[in-house]
Amino acid sequence: MINRRKLFTQAVVSLSFMAMPKLVQAGKIIQRYQLTAKIGSASFAQDRNQTNLWLYNNTTPGPLLKAKKGEVLEVEFINKLDQPTTIHWHGIRNINEMDGVPDLTQAAVEPDDKFTYRFPVNDAGTFWYHAHNKSWEQVARGLYGALIVLDENETFEDARDHLIVADDWLLDDNSQIDSSSLGSLGHWSHGGRLGNALTINGSYRPTIETATMGQVRLRLLNAANARILSFALNDGLPIKVVSVDGSPCKPFEVEEVKISPAQRVDIVVEDGAQLSRLFEISTKTRFEAAVFIPTKMHNSQKRIIYNKSPYYNQVKNINARLVDIHMQGGAMGNLVSAVFEGEERGLRDLAMNESKLWAFNGQVGGYDVNLADVNLGDIVSLRVWNDTAWPHAMHLHGQHFWVESREFGQEEIALLRDTYLMQPGEKKDLVFVADNPGLWLFHCHMLEHHAAGMGGVISVS
Ligand code: C2O
Ligand code: CU
Repeated sequence: MINRRKLFTQAVVSLSFMAMPKLVQAGKIIQRYQLTAKIGSASFAQDRNQTNLWLYNNTTPGPLLKAKKGEVLEVEFINKLDQPTTIHWHGIRNINEMDGVPDLTQAAVEPDDKFTYRFPVNDAGTFWYHAHNKSWEQVARGLYGALIVLDENETFEDARDHLIVADDWLLDDNSQIDSSSLGSLGHWSHGGRLGNALTINGSYRPTIETATMGQVRLRLLNAANARILSFALNDGLPIKVVSVDGSPCKPFEVEEVKISPAQRVDIVVEDGAQLSRLFEISTKTRFEAAVFIPTKMHNSQKRIIYNKSPYYNQVKNINARLVDIHMQGGAMGNLVSAVFEGEERGLRDLAMNESKLWAFNGQVGGYDVNLADVNLGDIVSLRVWNDTAWPHAMHLHGQHFWVESREFGQEEIALLRDTYLMQPGEKKDLVFVADNPGLWLFHCHMLEHHAAGMGGVISVS
């Protein structure tokens, strides 16, 4: 067998001399950052113990990265962990070499090694970045942060534009990451690693200063491994959804907004003066997640500037290249056996000996499992069938897809997303224009499911 990691290391070495200048156009403004992944700690509340975590620049969430549409983001990344890692730029329609998938788009960054991520950001919106090697552990321990790309004439007004990064940690009695349950087959075969501690921007129930005149925007991001979150505002304040997964959408109103792991939803509250609480309501007990208080700062501008047109117009699945993806496996599922590394094996054997529990089209997924080869420029329809007993947050790297979404109620709303939450038994077409060449992962963002076989590669060339 070819040693893929070696191969990649060599490829990357020559890339850094040769291809870098070609990847990014000259004359663009470059936003430079440095991120160091390292063991660190944080305290989620003043009266709690410090929690030991793995963090970027020792903060949770990691530093907020900002750029303007059309600029280049350059991140010098240093790995001070004792295991390999990479960074994936979730939702960015990236250059394939910068997508951060180990052994697929780059060699993993070894301990004490560096890697420079450098790519143009051509879409405005709310994005995030996270570790993509053993992400079920690395993300669970804190390796993620947000990335906001502003449109040319957009400003980020602190008191009016709130980034709300939610996480669901599984902690023990000493406020430490419950590490004995990392890798638990019970989690992997069921709904993934569900936590017991909800933080917003790295704190329990933070107080957020907000503008009280005019509109306020909340950029909601779910960084949890597996927990599907639902948010509502005080007094049933209407929630106007203006953007999903970065891309603007035709605004619509809801009373609550469900957000699967990795999804982002930007919402606008028309009258900031009425906003006082953010509730998390997925567990049926209304949990007070954040408190809003009036800012002392003077606000002049009273309206938020936001776009209404998605990155690209809806494409239909007529004449599309059809790719069937039949998802099976997990607890209470119908998968009896599946092909793993070329060999058909029983599910029990796969679970006990390989920690593999899920399959696409009868095959246990992985970075080396090809789901389809499509031509550059094709309209592609991923016809996904969730034939399991669990919801799954299906994420496509490198492009956004159109979906007639049922995430906001029984009525379908056409949305351009990078992650779609599928209910058990649901069949859906995820339709996209394959205009970004490369090897792109399609996987469940319940990170335990992905590790246990729910993922594969779409090749665009
Ligand atoms: Cu945010 Cu492959 O993931
Ligand atoms: Cu899943």
